[in-house]
Amino acid sequence: MKRLTVPAIRQRKVDGTTAEPIVMLTAYTARQAQLLDAHCDLLLVGDSLGQVIYGLPSSVPVTLDMMIAHGAAVVRGSYHAAVIVDMPFGTYEGSPEAAFASAARVMKETGCAAIKLEGGEAMAETVDFLVRRGIPVMGHVGLTPQAVNVLGGYGARGRSEAEAAKILGDARALEQAGAFAIVIEGVVEPVAVAITEAVSCPTIGIGASARCDGQVLVTEDMLGVFERVPRFVKVYENLAETIGSAAARYADEVRARTFPGQEQTYQPRGSKLG
Ligand code: KIV
Ligand code: NA
Repeated sequence: MKRLTVPAIRQRKVDGTTAEPIVMLTAYTARQAQLLDAHCDLLLVGDSLGQVIYGLPSSVPVTLDMMIAHGAAVVRGSYHAAVIVDMPFGTYEGSPEAAFASAARVMKETGCAAIKLEGGEAMAETVDFLVRRGIPVMGHVGLTPQAVNVLGGYGARGRSEAEAAKILGDARALEQAGAFAIVIEGVVEPVAVAITEAVSCPTIGIGASARCDGQVLVTEDMLGVFERVPRFVKVYENLAETIGSAAARYADEVRARTFPGQEQTYQPRGSKLG
């Protein structure tokens, strides 16, 4: 199976409609990527790894080196999905040139297909600069977690008319700048639908609308690894319970000296037990 390309993803949406919705999940490790790859069009190495993998309070402290290490692992673990790597806070906002230097490192050192960055109108010039220089860009509007210190929290956006118009303007600016797709996160449904109808490139929703051109979730969220997830997450499995139960049985067997058993134990050659 040949790896999906960015132009192929872009072409899923023809004349405003997407016959086959785009499937995206986050992945941070090679093995996770292997398990998800066949089921996904896109694997996103999200800067959500700050909270999910590193226990950080937000995505703000995530570094370029962290994204590159995990991005390279996900590329190594996949062969079908196109891999997108998030640009972390502070590595692209200052200027188009700074963004190019950071994004070029990500492309060269991970082998990913594209990068994603947060922000709308303010980032349009940068998106244009990157795309013209060979770096495909996925946009991200609405609830943009790197701006948590400006937004004041992770609540849904677009409830007022002014905010709804601002988010729609952001998405339009990204499309005009050449973004190949746009993530719409945490917005009231009419805003997500209006953006999806307004832009020619695919929209990928998370806490947005089933009418977006695709969907994304944080894999650990939908696997039930966390105790608390936002309301927009559907929990498809309860891995926390599975992992906790396995660890409890292991602990019991170690304390009872019933693990390791004979099958898990080496004996010298020729020994009756071997
Ligand atoms: O970092 C991330 O996981 C993301 C998705 C939730 C879109 O940006
Ligand atoms: Na992100």
